This record gives sequence, structure tokens and C-alpha cells, in this order.
Amino acid sequence: MSVLNRPRIEAYIGASGSGKGVSVNARLRELTPRRLLIWDPRNEYDAYARAVHSLPELVKAFQKAGAGGVRVRYVPGAALKLDDAFDVVCKLAFNAGELVFVAEELSDVTTASRAPASWRQVITQGRHRALHVLGCAQRPALIDKTFLGNATYIRCFTLRYDDDRRAMAKALDVPQAQVDALETVETEKHTTIRYIERDFRAKVLRTAQIRLAR
Ligand SMILES: Nc1ncnc2c1ncn2[C@@H]1O[C@H](COP(=O)(O)OP(=O)(O)OP(=O)(O)O)[C@@H](O)[C@H]1O
Ligand SMILES: [Mg+2]
Repeated sequence: MSVLNRPRIEAYIGASGSGKGVSVNARLRELTPRRLLIWDPRNEYDAYARAVHSLPELVKAFQKAGAGGVRVRYVPGAALKLDDAFDVVCKLAFNAGELVFVAEELSDVTTASRAPASWRQVITQGRHRALHVLGCAQRPALIDKTFLGNATYIRCFTLRYDDDRRAMAKALDVPQAQVDALETVETEKHTTIRYIERDFRAKVLRTAQIRLAR
């Protein structure tokens, strides 16, 4: 695989109900990946991939696919510790390569000082394996720093805690007042999701909104 692959790491960050899921769904519709693996702890992505509930079954799906198309999402059950299951899924993503890898709710499986080595490998070396990573988190101040530090694209929604807003102002390199001003507003007819996005590669920085009919 080419070492000229560029990193593709997208971060979707915001409080619960702020717009991460809406945005990742839209992104997946846009990307329509031939090979897709979703870490799906809340069992939300049924429109995009077949659910797999055991790690052996997940390994088998990739063995069967070889270098061909495969779209699966791992929905962890109670049998394994979440951290251990995430570690295995990250190893599998790295070994499989040529993959869009969605990791939902990183606050569940990493902290500011701790993350599986396999997750860090996905982030820091994933480009050599042609990985395209989309990760979500509600509490950016509490997740592994490697992720935001290496993100090539960040979309930030409303955040409730000051330390999270400070962390995102730093990651986006914008005044914190801009992050403080974000909101997701629900009226009877619409949900309006305001966000800041920064594409480090295309050198785009803007605030924008998505309006959904309720
Ligand atoms: N298909 C839809 N049509 C209209 N509104 C929606 C739709 N899906 C979600 N919403 C609304 O959009 C807002 C953002 O929801 P979203 O699922 O993106 O949140 P989230 O950031 O992923 O939250 P969580 O961390 O809890 O998963 C919420 O107000 C939700 O009610
Ligand atoms: Mg969500």
C-alpha cells in the first residue's frame, strides 16, 4: 500500500443531541464506502452496515471479504469489557486496511491519559493502511489527545462544559467565544444545528448550520 496515502481523520465533537450523529450519517451517505467498519455501541447505524455481535464473527466477515467489499458494524454486547472489545476492533481495522472506520463515542473507551495502543496506531499510522477515520465524542476534554491532535477535519457542535469548549477552541485554533456561541435549537417545526468546521487540509474554517424538519 502506498506510503503517499494522506491521513484522513474526521472528528465530530459535541454534547448529547448536538448533531454528531446527523453529520456522520450525512457523511456516510456522501462517502458510500465500499469497505466500512463501524464501532457502534448504541446500535444506531443499521442503514449502512450489517450488525455483528461477536468478535469472531467480525474477524470472519473480513476474512471472507479479503480485499473486496465489506460493510459491517460491531455492536458490543455484555460478554467483553468495552475497552477490550474496542482494542480488538481497532486492531482489526488496522490490519484490514482500505477502510472507512467509524468510532462512535470515544469517551466510553479512551480517557485524556489512556487509550488502547491499537487506537493510537489507527490514528498515527492509519494513512499507511488507507484508513479513513470518523470519530465522535461528547467530552473532548476527557478523550485521548492523539485523536484531536491528528484530526485533519473537525466539526464542533454545542458543548455544555467550559473545559470542553476550551479544549475545542484550542483544537480548532479559534477564540473560545466562537465555541461558546454554538447551539442546537429545537422548535416545534425545526431543529437547527450550529457548528464550526475546520478542514486543515483544504484550509477552510467556517461556522454553518443544518436545519432539519421535526
Ligand atoms: N432524522 C432526523 N430528523 C430530524 N431531526 C433529527 C433526526 N435525527 C436526529 N435529529 C435531531 O437532531 C439533533 C441532533 O441529533 P444527533 O443524533 O446528531 O445527536 P448526537 O450529537 O449524535 O448525540 P449523542 O451523543 O447523544 O448520540 C437532535 O435534536 C435530534 O433530535
Ligand atoms: Mg450520536
